[in-house]
Amino acid sequence: MPVSEAVLDQLKQRAREAAAHAYAPYSGFAVGAAVLDDSDEIHSSANVENASFGLSNCAERNAIFQAVAHGARKLQALAIYTPTAAATMPCGACRQVLMEFGADAVVVCCTDDAAQELRFGLADLLPAAFGPASL
Ligand code: THU
Repeated sequence: MPVSEAVLDQLKQRAREAAAHAYAPYSGFAVGAAVLDDSDEIHSSANVENASFGLSNCAERNAIFQAVAHGARKLQALAIYTPTAAATMPCGACRQVLMEFGADAVVVCCTDDAAQELRFGLADLLPAAFGPASL
């Protein structure tokens, strides 16, 4: 069953709130993400950077790992919020991590301007993916 617009609105709001906690002193690029698990629980997080740069973690992966660490194994949706003019797409690493738990998830990329919103299925973002079924 597709996720309702009302629930997607909540998910986007949680991603927006999470962005306020971004630790992004090096890039200045705050990102918030929220995932909806198959128990209809929402888990959110932000990007967390590091002085060594390479150890920085994206908001999306932090939110997915948060969900899994709280017992979720299947994700229905991912919302990504940035306070930018255009919506932000998830990076390749985050797409692969989403493949593990949300191959059928809807990905909503949003900003403060509803007209900029973009939506994708993970199959659009990561076609011919390697995943759990490949092993
Ligand atoms: N970032 C995310 O958190 N998610 C994305 O989808 C794109 C990039 C973060 C990583 C880094 O902290 C900053 O944004 C700039 O790349």
